[in-house]
Order: sequence, then structure tokens, then C-alpha cells
Amino acid sequence: MKNRLRSVYDCALVHFPKIPDDRGNLSFIEQRNHIPFNIARAYWIYDVPGGESRGSHAYREMEECIIALSGGFDVLLDDGIAQKIVTLNRAYYGLYIPGMIWRRMQNFSTNSVALVLASLPYSPDDYIRDYDRYVSLRGESQ
Ligand code: TYD
Repeated sequence: MKNRLRSVYDCALVHFPKIPDDRGNLSFIEQRNHIPFNIARAYWIYDVPGGESRGSHAYREMEECIIALSGGFDVLLDDGIAQKIVTLNRAYYGLYIPGMIWRRMQNFSTNSVALVLASLPYSPDDYIRDYDRYVSLRGESQ
């Protein structure tokens, strides 16, 4: 799986258990059951001003799962050929994104919170921040 260059069609929704309750719903994540990689890090994005976007980069290696814990936002996915927009607005599913996929998070609703589970510790060297370079690196990896 690691050797094949992934496309936007490999980005998939991952559903988590949802325990409905009159006192409020509860969902949970167990790494071995729900996340297709070992979780090395979690970070979250919040207090996003209206009209702002986050991301606009790809990672060489890192895999992520993005969850809208509160509110909602769109994730624009791009593999240099195809594009896909996935709307996340429920706390009981997330979006799995393999390595080498360009992404931008946009259209954040007021008070939205994005939780991101990542397969690697933070490493600036893993980022590809220039879109033209990303497309060219994808071409070299085919
Ligand atoms: P970045 O990943 O560039 O955010 P976005 O993709 O939303 O634009 O991260 C923004 C800043 O936060 C950058 O200076 C690096 C820092 N950062 C960490 O120190 N650790 C982390 O785990 C993350 C995700 C970012």
C-alpha cells in the first residue's frame, strides 16, 4: 500500500461508533479498530476567523484523519489530476488522507473545531507547500 501513489479516491470517510443518549451523544476512537495508521500526534484547529482557510499543502509521508468535532468545514483534496471536496460536519466520522495528497480546509463555520490525528510527529521537512512543486514531485513518483 505504501508504495503506490495515492489519489483523491483513496481519501475516505472513517466512521466512529456513536452511542446515542438523552444526556448527549458519545463517540470514541480506538487506534487499532478505527484508524488505519499508528497515531503519533493529535492537533486541533479552532477560532478560525470567517473566510480563512488552513492547510494548502501536502505531506510527503504523513497520513492524517481529520474530524469536525464541532461545527463544520470543507476539505479540498487534490492529487494533481483530480479534485474532490469533502464536507465534514459531524463528530462521529472523519476523513482519512494518505500521504502525497494536497489539501486545503476552508468554509469553516463559526466555532468549528477540527481535530487532526497524524501518523508522524511534526516535521517541517515532510511538508510540500508549493503546489507546482507538489505536482512535479507526483510526476517523478509515478
Ligand atoms: P501548519 O501545519 O502550517 O498549519 P496549516 O496547515 O493549518 O496552515 O502549522 C502552522 C504552524 O504551527 C507552523 O508554524 C508549524 C506549527 N505546528 C507545530 O509546531 N506543530 C504541529 O503539530 C503543527 C500541526 C503545526
